[in-house]
Amino acid sequence: METNDAANKLLAETEKKEILLHERLNQPLTFFQKTLVDALYALYFDVLGKKPRIDEDAAHHARKTFKKYFPEKLETMTEQLLSDPEAYKQKTDEFEKTCPPVFVDFPTDPSYYRVITSDPSRKLQEVLTRLAFLSNCNSSEKPYYALDMGTGYGRMARIIEDAAKKVFGNKRKYKIFGMDILESNIESAKKLNTELGSRVIFFTRDMNQIPFPSDTLSLVNTTDASYLNFRHRRPFYLAEIARVLSSRDGVCCITNPNENTTLKEYNYVMMRTNYQAYLNPINIIKATVLGKCSLHIDALSKARPDWELTCTEDMTNSLTRALKTEIIRIDNWPKKGGLPIYSGFTFRVTKSTKKAIEKYTLFRESKKAEDEWFDI
Ligand SMILES: C[S@@+](CC[C@H](N)C(=O)[O-])C[C@H]1O[C@@H](n2cnc3c(N)ncnc32)[C@H](O)[C@@H]1O
Repeated sequence: METNDAANKLLAETEKKEILLHERLNQPLTFFQKTLVDALYALYFDVLGKKPRIDEDAAHHARKTFKKYFPEKLETMTEQLLSDPEAYKQKTDEFEKTCPPVFVDFPTDPSYYRVITSDPSRKLQEVLTRLAFLSNCNSSEKPYYALDMGTGYGRMARIIEDAAKKVFGNKRKYKIFGMDILESNIESAKKLNTELGSRVIFFTRDMNQIPFPSDTLSLVNTTDASYLNFRHRRPFYLAEIARVLSSRDGVCCITNPNENTTLKEYNYVMMRTNYQAYLNPINIIKATVLGKCSLHIDALSKARPDWELTCTEDMTNSLTRALKTEIIRIDNWPKKGGLPIYSGFTFRVTKSTKKAIEKYTLFRESKKAEDEWFDI
């Protein structure tokens, strides 16, 4: 089958799936479901008195210091990085010396993480990534290189691989990469390769320093991961994406919890769409492995400015006004039945993007030897 036919067939299937997922996500919360979430919160926080431990003095110091170093908006931070990368890097180092960042490991072992990723809100992420792939997969005959950052056990990298297999078959060369900061996640991703017969190339790196030459990738994806990147480092992450994407056909898809997200709102969504899975005691036990880290992240995002979630409008402005990218689509979900707690951004880099990041690109390229970039 020609690649165009294969892409059109996959596009039709994907769009159908998207409609069904929105229908499920837009259901209202029943009285029973809300009461169950509220009762569990009351039991956990009020009766058992459990609260994630946060260093309140350090959080107070970070709140006071952050505003001395950084502007409030991601858009302005990004502009500052692009106009003087050395100065912005120095500022970041100085801030982190006075306010050491709090790292939280996010384990994604498939034995429990698959329970979470079976939720419609996560399946919608898969649909958006596939649509991003389909938006440029027929753009040329050249090799297609894609990178999934914050890949965890490689869920989205394999979604891209699966789509590439269906559309390209043996007709076009492609390589899919998956990278994550946590070594143990990359180990489980590699182990799964054998089980699934997958050929994704996994490696460990920080999303703020992508080890690929400029202008090489057709697709970059980050699902539910860049919110774990410290707020003042997010400009590096965005500029890196703009640098490695090809000016010919480069497209990126980013999904994240947005400014409306609290752990409680998140649980309302999960309860609405997936409560039967969660009422299964085996799944409850599996999912609680992540409970501790999610509670910690939720508390940090409220207490520390370097952990604050990015709001949809600020992200849109950063992409369009600071980075001059062209938005393909912006999604928020759920659309009805509760607060939209997720945002998805699909965009392409333009010639103006490459111009806007000229200084930054030179800055990064001067470091390629010490960062051990890969050749592709
Ligand atoms: C919530 S999980 C999402 C995993 C995967 N994208 C998915 O949707 O199934 C977040 C992932 O981001 C990774 N991560 C967090 N900070 C990162 C960073 N600075 N660079 C690369 N990966 C990072 C975590 O280790 C974790 O695997």
